Amino acid sequence: MAKNYQKVVANLIEDYGGWSRVEERLADGRMTDKLFPYHQLFSPIQVNGIKIKNRIVMGPMGNVGMPDETGRPSNKMIQYFVERAKGGVGLITSGLVLASNNVEASVTEVGDLSLLPRIDRSRTVFPGWRVLAESVHAYGARFFIQLSAGLGRVASPECLIKKWRLPVSASWNPNFYMPAVPCRPLRDGECLKIIKNAGQAAADARALLIDGVYLHGHEGYLLEQMTNTAFNRRKFGRFADWQAFGIELVKHIRERVGAHYPIMYRIDLSLALNETYGERMEQVSSLKKFRKERTVEMTLDYMANLVKAGVDMFDVDLGCYDNWWLPHPPTSMPPGCYLPVAGLVKDYLAGEKIKSNAGLPVPVVAVGKLGYPDLAERALREGMCDMVMLARPLLADPEWPSKAYAGKISGICPCIGDQEACLNEFIEGGHPQCAVNPRTGFEDVLCAELTPASEPKEVAVVGAGPAGLLCACTAAQRGHRVTLFERLDKVGGELIPGSAPRFKYDVANYLQYLRNLLEKTAKNYKLELRLHTEATPAMLKGEKFDAVVTGTGGEPVKLAIKGIDLPHVVQAVDLLCNGSIPAKVRKVVVVGGGSVGCEAAYMLACEMGRQVTIVEMLPYFMKGVCTANRGHLIHYLERAGVRLLNCARLQSIGKKTVKVCQNVSPTVPDPYKTWSPILPENIKNPLAKKIKVEEKEIELEAELVVLHVGLKADDRLYESCVRERVAPEIHNIGDSSCVGRIFEATKAGYAVGRML
Ligand SMILES: Cc1cc2nc3c(=O)[nH]c(=O)nc-3n(C[C@H](O)[C@H](O)[C@H](O)COP(=O)(O)O)c2cc1C
Ligand code: SF4
Repeated sequence: MAKNYQKVVANLIEDYGGWSRVEERLADGRMTDKLFPYHQLFSPIQVNGIKIKNRIVMGPMGNVGMPDETGRPSNKMIQYFVERAKGGVGLITSGLVLASNNVEASVTEVGDLSLLPRIDRSRTVFPGWRVLAESVHAYGARFFIQLSAGLGRVASPECLIKKWRLPVSASWNPNFYMPAVPCRPLRDGECLKIIKNAGQAAADARALLIDGVYLHGHEGYLLEQMTNTAFNRRKFGRFADWQAFGIELVKHIRERVGAHYPIMYRIDLSLALNETYGERMEQVSSLKKFRKERTVEMTLDYMANLVKAGVDMFDVDLGCYDNWWLPHPPTSMPPGCYLPVAGLVKDYLAGEKIKSNAGLPVPVVAVGKLGYPDLAERALREGMCDMVMLARPLLADPEWPSKAYAGKISGICPCIGDQEACLNEFIEGGHPQCAVNPRTGFEDVLCAELTPASEPKEVAVVGAGPAGLLCACTAAQRGHRVTLFERLDKVGGELIPGSAPRFKYDVANYLQYLRNLLEKTAKNYKLELRLHTEATPAMLKGEKFDAVVTGTGGEPVKLAIKGIDLPHVVQAVDLLCNGSIPAKVRKVVVVGGGSVGCEAAYMLACEMGRQVTIVEMLPYFMKGVCTANRGHLIHYLERAGVRLLNCARLQSIGKKTVKVCQNVSPTVPDPYKTWSPILPENIKNPLAKKIKVEEKEIELEAELVVLHVGLKADDRLYESCVRERVAPEIHNIGDSSCVGRIFEATKAGYAVGRML
């Protein structure tokens, strides 16, 4: 009987929101060591002409803003990779490197400068690549370069204004960022130019000691636009056959690099647009064209043909930009979310007895939230995949492989899936970093070894949130004598409510990691923890500290609204800390549609089965949060029946209702829109519609009202300490200095801990 592959995809999409097997999923997402020693993870594998020392692949992460402006890998970029090679990973892959610079007007910066690394430019960039390859080889790692055919419709459309040229795609497709901007179809000659460029880049890569090439065929980038029927609707010419571009590309690369050089291909088994958006595929103009996406059967057939053309290995995921939480699975996606997809491909290749041109089985690499050592090992043992790819987990902890090998699992710093410092940071104009690892992206300037304090000091750190914890541990490891004060009976600060919903298991893992770090530091260095202790200026002064660091957090902003003090009105943070509400409460209104409000609503609706409405004053929910994280939560809030009211102001709270004034103008954005992003504020969209005002008062039933309209810095202790000169050196870190995310908290804690 024919397998219903599409049903498999539909079930997965359903499951990514509902978590049908929650307990099992949560067990998979723990940093446990039940399967230690990890024999499978640390067994070698042959891929065409090369042997890789273990089964761990570092996933490709765009090295945006990391090379110098010619595109030559800089010392920053080299040291970033060297750090991961030292940490024991078997195979490293670069972020995307474009083969379309002389074809796509949208990819090269004005002045011919480059944000991304380049290999195609000229010999001036070669030494950077060669040193990079040599440097990672020194630690036994292999290095593949990820070659991308281009960006196509997912490029910024600014070239329209800056260069008077349209962005491109396979057919006439709407630009992702500004759907009103059309992307013109590439001419056949331009396609051939890209293929030729990629062949040259592969030959150069080989000459520069890079161990293999890795083709960027997923997520709806240009290679996929050419090879997926959703985007390639060409009627004539050489590439009207949707498989032709990919097959020609692989054949040409194979011709240029010889028989034994590894070629890896990244593909999504399905864009899963129809499964994600259902009827919307007919209704939303920017999605309509993509209805006839490549089916799973078509993908598998294409993969078989790619192997014939010369591909040696695949990695597989789901989705594209238009459902971006799939290729970039956030905190709220289940652990190992694409293992079933890898397993399906592996079964297909085995069933069809497909072998590479080298006569070897074609390894399938699994990707997506696999940074939990027991789960990674189990995936290999149970034959779901041949290798595991870790992208973000190696930003969070480059030593993941060596710690897993040694069984030091409690010392692995886990990725929290927030994507604030990695993805969002470069979207907002920076380069990839990591919220839980302040050294990521700064390995060239912040060496791993801490400089011992020249003069050990008596240091007080007040507040054991993430900033205070990291500051105290770092300072103690440098030789200072540290006293860490915490008002409550446990450490963690905002991480405690932040890890309360079950879907925030990654944050719970991080909190546990920080607790482990504190315990270990207190055991080996001079660090004393004083719980239940509210530090006062007099107390601090009395103990004659040389330095005082305050990390006392923030406090919720209070609204001056009628009914705000009624007993059924709670702060979201308190709700998250308590974790329960009376059984009789069914209808809940959450006021504040930022990430805390939406996460509380998700917990109430999906984990507690309540009927929830969220009221947000701004046009957009979770504004400023990574598009992937935002999209996932909003999509599944909608599926759980949560009502989202944007451009809506809370007026008053009664015993059973709340009054809200809402802008009901049709120009108000659709709050459920997850298929196109909110543009950063510094990017002006000349085509954006103006929001008109047409206000209406509405009344909502509410047995419980949950508030989160923001935090404000609680800097009272810091200011008193400065005024009363409690110590010669006083610093303020984390939310008590400036309300921010975990990213800002750890950055400040680590920086001050290193500097004291
Ligand atoms: C900062 C960042 C940049 C990324 N850039 C790329 C890229 O250049 N090419 C690519 O194929 N995937 C890219 N990805 C996707 C990752 O390779 C990976 O598929 C995804 O993060 C899921 O794996 P993980 O859960 O192990 O992080 C990027 C991901 C992140 C977080
Ligand atoms: S920034 Fe967040 S999501 Fe990205 S690697 Fe670090 S912890 Fe993971």
